[in-house]
Amino acid sequence: MNINHLIENNKNRYLEELMDLLRIPSVSADPAYQPAMRKCAEWVQKSLLSAGVDSAEVIETDGHPVVYAEKHIGSQYPTVLVYGHYDVQPPDPLELWDSPPFEPVIKSGNIYARGAADDKGQFYMHIKAFELLAEQQALPVNIKFMIEGEEEVGSANLRSFLLQHQSRLAADVILVSDTSMVGLDTPSIETGLRGLAYLEVTATGPNRDLHSGVYGGAVANPINALCAMIASLHDESGRINIPGFYDEVVELSQDERTAMAKRPFDLAAYQSALGVDAVAGESGYSTIERTGIRPTLDVNGIWGGYTGEGAKTVLPSKAHAKLSMRLVPNQSSENIAALFTAHFRAIAPPGIRIDVRPHHGGEPVVTPTDMPAYRAATLAIEQTFGKSPVPTRGGGSIPIIALFEEILGLKTVLMGFGLDSDAIHSPNEHFGIENFLKGIETIAHFHQQFAVLAEHK
Ligand code: BES
Ligand code: MN
Ligand code: MN
Repeated sequence: MNINHLIENNKNRYLEELMDLLRIPSVSADPAYQPAMRKCAEWVQKSLLSAGVDSAEVIETDGHPVVYAEKHIGSQYPTVLVYGHYDVQPPDPLELWDSPPFEPVIKSGNIYARGAADDKGQFYMHIKAFELLAEQQALPVNIKFMIEGEEEVGSANLRSFLLQHQSRLAADVILVSDTSMVGLDTPSIETGLRGLAYLEVTATGPNRDLHSGVYGGAVANPINALCAMIASLHDESGRINIPGFYDEVVELSQDERTAMAKRPFDLAAYQSALGVDAVAGESGYSTIERTGIRPTLDVNGIWGGYTGEGAKTVLPSKAHAKLSMRLVPNQSSENIAALFTAHFRAIAPPGIRIDVRPHHGGEPVVTPTDMPAYRAATLAIEQTFGKSPVPTRGGGSIPIIALFEEILGLKTVLMGFGLDSDAIHSPNEHFGIENFLKGIETIAHFHQQFAVLAEHK
């Protein structure tokens, strides 16, 4: 069986199917898209059935449904549980897209649409790799698919889903394509994800908006106060000023840091791709370390007072901000959220009341590189790309990965094929067609390699 040949012969069909999937606006965050979420789950279910699974279901949760499917070839064979998500981020700001986000177009080797790389284009590679092997009667492992619809909103209902379906989800390893690699010429595997603690804060001053001339200078302004409080959360070396914040952070050894620095990285290209004339962050750490092994705190949104046309002289009653912290091993999202809340309340100036409301959280993970599935991924990437993958630490978060380990006792391989330049969550998100096709090939090789290497009994 020549996998390459089969992919080449079918690639136009694969791309057309993917474009159909990308036309469904499955935005999990916005209730207005709920019918599209359902339609998308059913579309994924059908595509799994036509790819050759034994069964595929749309399983209800308290939020958006999970699509679950399996193909069993025999209990003597190892089982791979493929995870992905069919939900996407909201597409706005719409005016910054060169073509509408849910009308996919192919331009200079990329497919442009919301979800192209995160994660529809990536989980669809798994369905096509499976279809190809099944069609050739060459599937060497049992496969389970779990494609969820709430990753982009924090996977809040997934803990109870895993607990409820624990036995049917039994597997030897979890395989996920929802991360990026360094480049087609530098294949890589992410070996870690950061955790996340996301909070919303409200600062309240006077009981109503005031005239800023009549009262200004005499009553605390909640926007001024909130800005000063937020500014105090970093010190001049870029460290986070919350007591206890770094207590659990695992520091890497010099050897580990030296190994990390081997990953190719072009700082000038990085800066120019982002249109910035300098990078910024915690002193004493490289850019790669700042996103890979160090925790962060960022304001994601801030509002209050008058933001309409013209000018209004107002001393507002309230100010708001959304803040998130990226976490590294062994920080816990609950613990960090509690430290933040206590500190933020403590630093409020007189005349300002602070409310803190938690949004979602997720725990950091490090995936092992000394297990059969990682070796299978390494060999599969070598087969496709002719080069060994370099291990990297990713800065993003996938909340369910830590739960897979906690609840199912399973390790994960993060075999992603996106690029950092794919503009995920941004306008003009895209996915390289070569990444897509090479991904399908690599996944097929993975199953073949894992069938040989797995220590399944
Ligand atoms: N696929 C991403 C995470 C990702 C992207 C990991 C690139 C590594 C490289 C995922 O869909 C995502 O966006 N996760 C969110 C977390 C979620 C709780 C909203 C994130 O990282 O902000
Ligand atoms: Mn994703
Ligand atoms: Mn995402």
